[in-house]
Amino acid sequence: MAEARGPRRPGRRPSTGPAARGGSRPPSRPGPPPSADPSRRVAYLLLRAVDAEGAYANLVLPSLISEHRLAGRDAALATELGYGTVRAAGTLDEILARCVDRALDELDPAVRDLLRLGAYQLLRTRIPAHAAVATTVDLARATGSVRASGLVNAVLRKVGTDDWDGWTARLSEDGEPLRRLAVRTAHPQWIAAAFADALGGDLDETAAALAADDERPQTHLVAWPGRIDRAELLAESGGTPGPYSPFAIRLDGGDPGALAAVRGRLAAVQDEGSQLCALALAAAPLDGRDERWLDLCAGPGGKTALLAALGAPRGVRLEANELRPHRAELVRSATEFWQVPVSVGDAREVTPTDGGWDRILLDAPCTGLGALRRRPEARWRRDPGDVAQLAELQTGLLRHALELLRPGGVVAYVTCSPHPAETTAVVSAVVADGRAELIDARPAFPGVDDLGAGPTVQLWPHRHGTDAMFCALLRRPC
Ligand SMILES: C[S@@+](CC[C@H](N)C(=O)[O-])C[C@H]1O[C@@H](n2cnc3c(N)ncnc32)[C@H](O)[C@@H]1O
Repeated sequence: MAEARGPRRPGRRPSTGPAARGGSRPPSRPGPPPSADPSRRVAYLLLRAVDAEGAYANLVLPSLISEHRLAGRDAALATELGYGTVRAAGTLDEILARCVDRALDELDPAVRDLLRLGAYQLLRTRIPAHAAVATTVDLARATGSVRASGLVNAVLRKVGTDDWDGWTARLSEDGEPLRRLAVRTAHPQWIAAAFADALGGDLDETAAALAADDERPQTHLVAWPGRIDRAELLAESGGTPGPYSPFAIRLDGGDPGALAAVRGRLAAVQDEGSQLCALALAAAPLDGRDERWLDLCAGPGGKTALLAALGAPRGVRLEANELRPHRAELVRSATEFWQVPVSVGDAREVTPTDGGWDRILLDAPCTGLGALRRRPEARWRRDPGDVAQLAELQTGLLRHALELLRPGGVVAYVTCSPHPAETTAVVSAVVADGRAELIDARPAFPGVDDLGAGPTVQLWPHRHGTDAMFCALLRRPC
């Protein structure tokens, strides 16, 4: 479905020139520019990196926090403001566009980021309005946008004349229900539409799914079987057992990289939904030989490592392939203990040997719409054109994966996206060729509630607390 109004997409927009033009005069403040609050400065630097350099917020923020020596509440505030503003950017821009007397694109990008940060504080936090405005004006002065501080002050005062609910109702007053939902939960409308399609058109549940994208995700660990018992990792990490995967632990906070088990490569960070998909492939019913497994698009190797750990006691020979050399290196490093051979190249050029593999994981390149809560900027960087391109690639990869199977072998087709064009449509197109049959995947997810009518499985953050992973199991007929 097309977007009713194209929201801005941080990180892709071209820069529009040096200074913010016009606007009211900055408030006259004698003396040197005020020093900005360190948390807001870090949040602002994050916005600049995302907007100007196309950075990934979750990769940049930790180093900004340590560079600026933020800790405790200051680090938490920088995270909340930085991630929150990036996540809400499209809707914030629509609101700001109604408060600025020219196109938002004509503003200096640095000023636009200041306005986004101020508007976020006004509309989506409990920070008092006067503090939200004053700290943003101070930040403008302290970061070199002195001449724009008057504009920032005037625009934010207009933004503060209504709250989030009021603004988003106004932005969508003539719109359809999906438009209202998208604006209110700060998602592009095409993503809201894709979630709604995947949820059978249930708008209440779509609202819950979109809201889950704004919640801070828990970190999940995997205790690799044969390397460490979950009980031992639970004791070390202080987490709670994942409800579904026997190897999962959920953490409420803390730095998983500091755990001895993670440093010693006995365990790793891995979403519980990803664990379930690897476990499903290993558990899928299979007649005959079961000793050759392949992970076709393996980088960075999270699922490869779990498959290696699951396959080792079963005498399985696991191989992996990855297109990008640096990601293939990550797979080698993740699976060093099991010495998994990793080839580098396009999966569609892998050739079958020894009559074909018994089990293949195709964790396909995808839009990642199922992990938006972990990647604050992702929702505004993707567009519907990405989906069509990826769906074509996914279909080609799945067709080829089936050719690499021995007759009777099984492929798990997995995406970290619930978009039907990347999930059920790809599977249906390939099954329609007549060279594969779908197996009901639900029994391969034992103990997981709310799996719907099958035969494919779609996990959801709001239902399962996992990323929105999709899994289909396909068998090559004998
Ligand atoms: C969704 S990720 C896989 C994640 C991985 N299974 C894990 O759990 O860590 C998809 C991977 O496919 C790789 N890829 C993309 N196009 C490919 C192709 N044509 N052939 C092989 N790998 C490809 C990407 O570089 C990326 O590393």
